[in-house]
This record gives sequence, C-alpha cells and structure tokens, in this order.
Amino acid sequence: MSDITSKPSHTKKPESERRRVFAIISHPDAGKTTLTENMLYATGAIHQAGRVAARGEARRTKSDWMKIEQERGISVSSSVMTFEHKDLIFNLLDTPGHEDFSEDTYRTLTAADCAVMVLDVAKGIEPQTLKLFEVCRLRDIPIITFVNKMDREGRETFDVLSEIEDKLALDVVPMQWPAASGRRFKGTADLTSNVFYRFIRPDEDGDTGVGAPQVDMDSDEMSAIFKDEDLLAEFREEVELAKEYGEFNIQSFNEGHMTPVYFGSALRKFGVRELIDALAELAPGPQVEPAQKAGQSVEIAPSNKEVTGFVFKVQANMDLNHRDRVGFLRLVSGEFKRGMKLKTADGKAISVHNPILFFAQDRELADNAFAGDVIGIPNHGSLRVGDSLSESGKIRFAGMPNFAPEILRRARTVDPLKAKHLRKALESLAEEGVTQLFKPAFGADMIVGAVGALQIEVMADRMKNEYGLEVLFEMPPYQIARWIACDDEAELEAFAAKNRNNMGEDLDGAPVFLAKSAWDIGYAQEKNPNLRFLSTKERR
Ligand code: G4P
Repeated sequence: MSDITSKPSHTKKPESERRRVFAIISHPDAGKTTLTENMLYATGAIHQAGRVAARGEARRTKSDWMKIEQERGISVSSSVMTFEHKDLIFNLLDTPGHEDFSEDTYRTLTAADCAVMVLDVAKGIEPQTLKLFEVCRLRDIPIITFVNKMDREGRETFDVLSEIEDKLALDVVPMQWPAASGRRFKGTADLTSNVFYRFIRPDEDGDTGVGAPQVDMDSDEMSAIFKDEDLLAEFREEVELAKEYGEFNIQSFNEGHMTPVYFGSALRKFGVRELIDALAELAPGPQVEPAQKAGQSVEIAPSNKEVTGFVFKVQANMDLNHRDRVGFLRLVSGEFKRGMKLKTADGKAISVHNPILFFAQDRELADNAFAGDVIGIPNHGSLRVGDSLSESGKIRFAGMPNFAPEILRRARTVDPLKAKHLRKALESLAEEGVTQLFKPAFGADMIVGAVGALQIEVMADRMKNEYGLEVLFEMPPYQIARWIACDDEAELEAFAAKNRNNMGEDLDGAPVFLAKSAWDIGYAQEKNPNLRFLSTKERR
C-alpha cells in the first residue's frame, strides 16, 4: 500500500493545493505521446523514454493495481498519469485520439483545470486541435501552447502565432523565441530572461538529455553556436519584435483569454523541462466548483471537509467474461479514505473498497486521495458519466455536457420482433454514456449518435454480447444533430411544428434538429435568428 501523505513534504501546503490536473490537446501525430513520455521521464516517473506505449506489459507484475487490471481485463493504464515536480503532484488526464476519439475524450477535459495544446510547427492548428480547444473554451480553462517538432522544417514563428490568434481568438504571448527550425534550428531564447537554450543535435554531441545547455544571449558563444552572423542578426531582430507581443497576464491566462507559447522538440527532449516548469508556475490548482445542494446553489471549495467528486468517464470492460466497469471520479473536495461509503445524488450508496489511485512512480492501491486526484472505482454498471458522489449524497455538480454527435446511424434489429428489446438496450447504453440516442418525431426508428467511429463498433459489440441482439447500423437521412433552444417557448414550438420531418428528441426529451448538412443548419439559423442551434448540452 502506498500513502502519498507519508512521503516527506517540504511545505505545509494542504494536499489539494499541491495538485495540478491537466490534459494535453492535439491533433493525432502532433507529438502528444512523445511529449507525455518525456514529461514522465524528465520528472523521474518513468526511467526510460519510449515506455508509455509498452507500459502495460512492463508494469503488469509490479503492483496490486495492475492485478486488478489483469484479473478483470480492464485497461485503465493510460487514463491518468502522475508525476511530481517542484513539490507539486501533476495528474495528466489522457484524452484518447485517433480511432479511440469519443465523447470520453471531450468529457475528460471537463475534469482538467488546465490544458497543454501541442501543435506541429509545420501544421499549426489542425481539425482535432480545434475541436478539443472548443471544449476547453466551454469552461474557459487556461491553455499553455507547446509548438513541437522544431527540429523539423516548419512554418515561420510569426505565422504560427497569427494562426493561433485568428483561429482560436486567443491572445498569444511567446515566452520563448526559436532560432529557425529544421536543420538550422539552434535553440530558443527565453524572453523573460537573457538565457538562450541551446539545441544540440544528436548527430553533433549526442542526446541533449532533458536539460539543454544555457547560454547568455550577449555572450560570444552565440556566434559559435549560430556559425552564421546573418542568421544570428536575424534572430536578434526577431527577438526584439517578439517582445512587442506584450506582457503575459496571469489573470487573462486563468480566464482562458491568453495563451503563453513555448517551443521545442518532444522527441529530442528539448524544451520539455521548461514546459513542465511553466506548468508548475502557471497552472492553477483545483478550483471551486458550483453545485446544487438540496435545490440551493452552493460552491464546493477543495478545502471543504466533505468528500465530493464527479464521474467524468466510465471505461467499459471489453472482456466478454466480465461485466466490470471503472468509473473515474475527479475529487473536488475532502480527503478520501479507502473503504469510504459515497452516495450519488440519486441516493445510490457505493462502498469504495478497492479504489484505483494513480500516484507518482508506482501506481498502487492507496489509502487516501485529495481534491485534484482521480480515483478509479470498479463497479458493475452502477456509476454513470456525470454522476456526482459525496458523503452526504446531497451534492450535485452541474455541467457535464453532452456533445453533438458527428456520426449518426439508424439502429435496426435483424429480427423485427425484437424492436422493443432493442429500444431498451439502446436506452440503457445511452444512459451509460456509451452513445447518444435520438427519437425522430416521425417513424419508429431510433437514431444513435457518436463522436467517434469506434463508439458505434463498441455499441454493436455490446448489443451482440450483452443483449443478444444483432443490430444493423444504417445511414439515416440526416448527418447532423443540434439541440435547439429559444427564450420564447412559442417560437420554438412553431419552428418544431414547421420542421417536423427533421425534429427529434434526446433521451431527456430535449428537442433536437436533425439536419442533412451543415448548410441546412446555417439556413435554419438565418431564418430563425432567435433560435440557438447548440452543439453541446449541459447535463443537469
Ligand atoms: P501523437 O501521440 O500526438 O499521435 O504523436 P506521437 O507522439 O505518436 O508522434 C507522432 C510522430 O511524430 C512519431 O513519429 C514521433 O516520433 C514524431 N515526433 C514527435 N515529436 C517529435 C519531434 O519533436 N520531432 C520530430 N522530428 N518528430 C517528432 P512516427 O514515425 O510516427 O513514430 P515512431 O516510429 O517514431 O514512434
């Protein structure tokens, strides 16, 4: 058993003030995995970079925690990664990308207090970066930008910064400035000091390691590093121009309006240490969360005594022999102790005897956890995404959103006699948060919605194995779903009556507009300026 509080602490800070919860947002291939690995490596959480992918195997024999994973066949290995730096404990929440992209990816961001946005210097803002950024913007969480792959030919730094400003409507403040990119990349200047971090190519003097050599910007060494006076002069000129971006403002950053920008090469471990230092300095700790208590609005501070939290992700077991799930609980307040009984806001009691906690270095079953920590709670389906847990059972956190699906499919059983059975199964999986479900105003079909393609596959699989249903997922006549809202109820009803062929409702009975294309949504919006076509819906 490990107990984080038994480790010597250099400060008297309350535990929750030592936590920093963040996620990395990026488009596939920008370097998220490489950066994650090298962050863990730089802080000693793993001893060899290149282990994140192989982590499951490497650790399997090591801890009790892994035994749970092995016995139950649940893969939770990359859901939360923890490392320590400067007396802070960082919980890095994984946001699955590629084919694993799903609502979980979005919802995980609701449990983070800060995000690192990784961009490929050659590609800038890519579609998935933009989608994830928009989710961060829902809560205005602060974002630190890391421009990666500086060791490869990339775009002009000024262009990259302009793109961030234009596409994301964020103020940018470069904290560093890179000297060229690709073969000519020499390193970065720290704009807050006179230090130049020298990039050493592996083919020059071996691997730079995590700490790049520091050089005084005014020293003669700069000429020796650049080996080209014109390049150095150009760089010095750019550094002067870069300072005109203005001062970094912590309040603007905390409110999600301004992003500090860092540069490096995750693969070469260059700039990773400085990025972690920036996180330690800038990332906010656990925040006060708004909630409802017995119908009253309350604010839950991390220092509150009562243990509270919310479930932001439920990982289903893909092993057919077991039905276990792991609910991921982000603790909002209090000191959680192993064996504690927590209640959902609907009064369901859950004894947490075998929580999975994620601590630095060795992740083991642990005895306690604090606001800003994440606990994995094995259960048989009693926990759902968006559930609030507390000792009193009276706390309900607001705002676990639903995200408009990008893939819509009409679900039909091969055996038409099983239509009722199908509806029940679809409802139950939608309640669990696996996929969303819409009932069109016309016809008996049920429309399943997902954010990622894998969600539909998971659903088909579970339909077959858990409910014995052979389900066909066909293309429906619509492509896009948007929740609609209007301050004037009558106007909303008039719109619904006029567009009955395209109306439906979700599981909670909220009205949904099912459109053939984005153009149709734009057209409907133009004709009905008072209506709001929403791509997210807060879950109450
Ligand atoms: P992701 O998780 O965001 O999808 O990206 P990942 O870290 O897997 O990186 C994608 C590819 O980009 C990998 O190459 C990785 O080595 C490379 N990469 C990441 N950071 C840097 C960097 O700073 N500089 C350079 N030059 N490359 C970088 P791959 O060939 O697809 O995979 P692998 O065979 O190297 O593992």
